[in-house]
Amino acid sequence: MTAEEVYRAYEERSWRALAQRARLKGGAFVVGRREGAYVWDLDGERRLLDCALSGGLHSLGHRAPEILAALRGALDSGLDGGLWLFPTPELLSFQDALAAAAPAPALDRSVVTLSSTASIDLAVHFASRVTGRSKILAYRQGYHGHAGFAAMVTGSREEGIFEYYGLPNVVARFFERYGDLEEMSALVTPDVAAVVLEPFNYETWEPAPADFLPALQALCSERGALLIVDETRTGLGRSGKFWMCEHWGLVPDILITGKGLAGGLYPASALLTTTAIYDRCINEHQYGFASSMGGNEISCVVGQKVVEICRRPEFYEGIRSLETRFRLRFGDLCERYPGVFAPGVLLGGIVTIGLVDASLGPAAAQFLFEHGVLCHSVSVVAPARVKFFPILTGAPDIADEVADALERFARR
Ligand SMILES: Cc1ncc(COP(=O)(O)O)c(C=O)c1O
Repeated sequence: MTAEEVYRAYEERSWRALAQRARLKGGAFVVGRREGAYVWDLDGERRLLDCALSGGLHSLGHRAPEILAALRGALDSGLDGGLWLFPTPELLSFQDALAAAAPAPALDRSVVTLSSTASIDLAVHFASRVTGRSKILAYRQGYHGHAGFAAMVTGSREEGIFEYYGLPNVVARFFERYGDLEEMSALVTPDVAAVVLEPFNYETWEPAPADFLPALQALCSERGALLIVDETRTGLGRSGKFWMCEHWGLVPDILITGKGLAGGLYPASALLTTTAIYDRCINEHQYGFASSMGGNEISCVVGQKVVEICRRPEFYEGIRSLETRFRLRFGDLCERYPGVFAPGVLLGGIVTIGLVDASLGPAAAQFLFEHGVLCHSVSVVAPARVKFFPILTGAPDIADEVADALERFARR
């Protein structure tokens, strides 16, 4: 099939909105070859620098050789989807690796699932059982998944489907101002089982203000609620530390990881928590959690390799070099084109540049696409920012490629 035929078929008999949205990026693009920081179209003629990475799924690069080797090794060694009703050494070993990488020794237990949606769902179960309460407080602009409780605690008006499906509003309550402790204090009432949030603002990628998360944690513990931090996008090195929580020395009650844990190749997500919470939820029922494929051996082998890579000191040296180059190039763009660009957030591989004219967001994303750079997205709330998730294992030249394309946009 040609790319155009694929798009037409999507529009006729599959997910129409997806194809229509993708067309707006700048034509019918179907991913063909992919390698490292780049993807090519079906004809192999058009190359894009991937700074979307499916939100970090491919943070270590497309088809990263070490992950591929781990996956192939797992398959060649005779493993398959496994028999979930028997213990496996692979799960134990992966759980040990996650405990060793946890932001603090206290988070020494984990459940491995196939997606962050499932992990968030389970976190809601845990919070409910541990506290005996039912409400979950989540960010209005946030996103945590598209099914079950994860969908119910997803407030994003653009991506959320909670109201669309008319889901029973049994758990969610939303806060509107990310970083406002007073609002949180008013909303963490005695019926709140947990607060769930990312360590940065879902839309703008602005990190949580300096004292917000530690103070929120103190508030939650004082009021008997759990703190669930969703590090699906921010973990595994994205912020320049293994976990973004580490920037504040924060140790939540439950931490969710996913996306990049799959190494872009085989599904894996995990919920990290304390022994007390784990035992209360998993070990006081015969089936505290069960999943046919969640925690299967192949996921565990792949996930463990990802964790191993993300613990290497040289991984962080590479991220620092990338961040430094982005800082230099974006700083220069803001100085030379003050009518177009404004400083944004730059923290490890969390890369944004502000747009002075917010209405230019979609045009900027489209221009970049046409000039070979796939950005992550453009923030739909103020301040207007073009957002990039570059691979974390790439050379600093990636920053030059992005900055050169932005400069062409400024001069168009
Ligand atoms: C912060 C966050 N949490 C949870 C999810 C859900 O992850 P998945 O689609 O792997 O279930 C996503 C997906 O984009 C996410 O960005």
